[in-house]
Amino acid sequence: MKPNTSKNLDTLFIKTYGCQMNEYDSSRMADMMKEAYGLRLVGAAEEADVILMNTCSVREKAEEKVYSELGRYKKLKDKRPDMIIGVGGCVGQQEGERIQQRAPYVDIVFGPQTYHRLPDMVKQIRRDRVRVTEIDMPEIEKFDHLPKAESHGISGFVTIMEGCDKFCTFCVVPYTRGPELSRPVADILAECCQLLAGGAVEISLLGQNVNGYRGMGPDGEEWDFTMLLYAVAELDGLKRLRFTTSHPMEMTQELCVAFGEIPQLMPYLHLPVQSGSDVLLKAMHRGHDRATYFRTIETLREYCPDLALSSDFIVGYPGETDIDFEETLELVRWVGYDSAFCFKYSPRPGTPAAKSEDNVPEAVKDARLQTLLSLMREQTRQAMQRQLGRTVDVLVEKTSRNAGDMQGRTPDFKIVHFRGNPRQIGQIMPMRIVDAYGQSLRGELILADD
Ligand code: SAH
Ligand code: SF4
Ligand code: F3S
Repeated sequence: MKPNTSKNLDTLFIKTYGCQMNEYDSSRMADMMKEAYGLRLVGAAEEADVILMNTCSVREKAEEKVYSELGRYKKLKDKRPDMIIGVGGCVGQQEGERIQQRAPYVDIVFGPQTYHRLPDMVKQIRRDRVRVTEIDMPEIEKFDHLPKAESHGISGFVTIMEGCDKFCTFCVVPYTRGPELSRPVADILAECCQLLAGGAVEISLLGQNVNGYRGMGPDGEEWDFTMLLYAVAELDGLKRLRFTTSHPMEMTQELCVAFGEIPQLMPYLHLPVQSGSDVLLKAMHRGHDRATYFRTIETLREYCPDLALSSDFIVGYPGETDIDFEETLELVRWVGYDSAFCFKYSPRPGTPAAKSEDNVPEAVKDARLQTLLSLMREQTRQAMQRQLGRTVDVLVEKTSRNAGDMQGRTPDFKIVHFRGNPRQIGQIMPMRIVDAYGQSLRGELILADD
């Protein structure tokens, strides 16, 4: 079932899983395929000449999900053999040729560090009628080969560093994304300017460990993340600056101070801690203890009292006892998060933790997850309730799914629905919060003569 090279390629469908960096990568793939082949993005696999899956392998059953989705695409390809199917992202990196052994109708397998070669891979397939696998890890050459970033709305994303050297025992990311590599400051500023010129007013800087950034500055010296933040904040037209994901180990004093000093830097921080138990933090190889995390939070709140915090948690890591879990609950109560992502531990192939026995029974994992989730739901509810009656600046993002409503975000990243119109998109508008729901708020515009 080789692709028929006679047909013109017109349409592209990308199915994206995983983190925001995958979202960013998918939009760069779309930019690139548009430039190389004039491909137009479509919303359904059925309409596409080229289907790309941008996959995630961070948690359980990731591979199975990919194969079951591929089964669906196979049916489309049976009817239209000229179609091209590619699997990229972290499962692509991890599984490599195994994917084509199991699903021979897949034409391309690629990884997060090779997607800039997609146009060449497509050319090769059409010319030589072969299958292609490219999962080597070239030294971050990718960014030099991507077309200029196109602006996709009022909120833009820019990858500033990639990869991870932390090697937490449970995590596949260091193996799928490779070592930490930072882009030069000048390239990052140029990409931000491009987005701002295209209409973005908010920029989120992305990296697996964004605050581990160490990139070449315009002065030839190495810049750290805080220096980069100050430089980005000065760009014309930038109203809001955010970043994700940060590692607690790299929260410097200067970075905490920046939250108080940079007006564009929004008071919201995702700072994953995974567990509240020192025994587990050590076993997980997180590189810090619970007291250090507490001190960091205190410093952040000293400079930015309104800071909203979120985190990731894993329950049921090998050896986790009731006491360890109790310490996690205690940490959650002490910090008072606005929200958190909570996961049951699952062994991932190739990680050090996968060699230990996955010895917390499934029922215990389930029970701990439910306990943690209900505590988090309550904290989120309280965080929302605290907004009632406040006046906040909302950046209007899009039309809401509720008819007649618009949707935007507060500085601390909460979703607000309000009665408005699409002309307000991109504006920052003061609103009074009049209602609070589980995951969102209701606002009323404050008119000039109020
Ligand atoms: N770089 C970020 C997180 C990247 S992965 C950090 O350092 O925190 C996103 C989240 O997935 C992690 O924070 C962790 O909570 C979860 N996760 C990663 N591996 C996992 C595994 N094997 N089982 C369950 N959850 C996992
Ligand atoms: Fe994974 Fe740890 Fe790296 Fe985060 S810091 S990406 S959890 S290895
Ligand atoms: Fe998933 Fe890879 Fe991101 S494993 S979370 S897509 S870095």
